[in-house]
Order: sequence, then C-alpha cells, then structure tokens
Amino acid sequence: MTKLGSEIHHLSVVDSTNNYAAKLISEGKIQNGSVIMADFQTNGRGQRGNTWQSVSSENLMFSLVFQPIGITPDQQIRLSWYTAVIWIKCLHRFSIAAQIKWPNDIFVGENKLGGILIEQQILGNTIAWSIVGCGMNVNAHPELKNTSSIFEQTQVHFKPRTLLNEFLELFNGHLDLLYSNHDKLKADFEAELWGKYTIQQFEDVKGQLWKAKIMGVDALGRLVLEQNDELLHFDLQEIKLKLP
Ligand code: BTN
Repeated sequence: MTKLGSEIHHLSVVDSTNNYAAKLISEGKIQNGSVIMADFQTNGRGQRGNTWQSVSSENLMFSLVFQPIGITPDQQIRLSWYTAVIWIKCLHRFSIAAQIKWPNDIFVGENKLGGILIEQQILGNTIAWSIVGCGMNVNAHPELKNTSSIFEQTQVHFKPRTLLNEFLELFNGHLDLLYSNHDKLKADFEAELWGKYTIQQFEDVKGQLWKAKIMGVDALGRLVLEQNDELLHFDLQEIKLKLP
C-alpha cells in the first residue's frame, strides 16, 4: 500500500480542509492517502457543530484522506481512537505529556492543544473514504479559555510541517493497531484518557450539572461513568465534560 501522506496539497486559504477533501472525493480527484493542508481556514469546523479558529499560519490544519481496509461503519470509532492515540505518541516526541479528553480532544493539563474531526463517506457496509481532520495549535492559540500551544508548552517554535511529518510517520507506522484488535486499541486509548478514575463535573442535555467518576469508554466509544455504584454510558450528544 502507498504510504499515507505521500501526496500533500498545501493551500494558503480554504474554507475547511475537510470540506475541500470531501469535494475532491466527490469529483474523483483525490488519491487514497493524500493530505490537504492549509495555512488558514475561513470556516474551520469542530465537533458538535463548533468552529475551529485559525489564529495564524503558524498552526497546523490538515485532512488526511484515506480508504480504511475492512473497517465497517459500526467500527468507525477505531479511526477516532487511533488518530487520538497517534497524536499522543507524536506529542511525546516533542516532550509534551498530552492526554485525550473524551471524545478525542488533545489536552495538556487543563488546556486544549488540538482537536480531531473525522468524517466518513459510507458505501453499503464499508467506509469508502475517511477524512481525518486535525487542528493543532503549534505556535499560537486562540484567545479562548483553557487553550494552549506547543510553543507555550516547550518555548520552541516548530514548523507546522514538522509536526505533520512526525504525525504521518507514526500514523503509517502503527497501522496494525488500527486494523487488528479492537480491545487493544480501546485499551491504548483508555490509557491516555484525561481524568480517568477521577470525579469530574458533567453537563447533560437539560443543562443540569452533576458529578461522576470517569471509568473509561465502552466498545462503541461511549464514555463510561460511575455514579452511586452504577455504570452509565453516554454518547457525544448526551453529555459534556466540564473543565474544573
Ligand atoms: C474539535 O476540536 O472540535 C475538532 C477540530 C478539528 C479542526 C480541524 S482543522 C482541519 C480540519 N478542517 C476542519 O474544518 N476541521 C478540521
């Protein structure tokens, strides 16, 4: 198989690299494993319909487009787990002790360094294309609460492209983890889970705040919490982890 990331399209401005990648897929103009990278996004998108702010061309924003082999739509959580685990390995190379804040935000301490937005194109019972969109605050971060950058953590300026190269090397190098054992990948994800076995505050869909202990995730990727000796499972739409 060709190496993922061997073809990189570097754009100066785009609305969203995920949108651009989806358009190229629909036009049949992109190859498996290509990366769309942009210096600036005018409509960067995040999870739960949030926006992803471009603060400068000093940060990394890209979408890796690939055709996962043999991962069925009901196993798509694996792409999310795998990407997050690869980011943790990547940031360790830069001496940053990052963790994954459920569902797949990249955090250091109580500050967000980056985020992942994965979108799939499903055909029957296969994932025809997966668009792995990643944003990482390399040299700057938006003026938002609880955000940080790699520069702020290390006092070193890195080129966004340096981060991308490291990420792609690791992503290519551990593909057996993505394709093989579901439980091993889940365990690797849980090993990096922010706040595991601690009591945290959550907000439910009714806006109610309550406390519970983070226990891990289930096989579908839902967050598992313990409250009054009971295990409760929540998906992305049902609950939000509030930072202390
Ligand atoms: C999140 O934190 O909610 C996910 C943020 C994902 C942002 C990246 S930047 C590159 C790609 N293009 C987008 O529009 N979003 C992702």
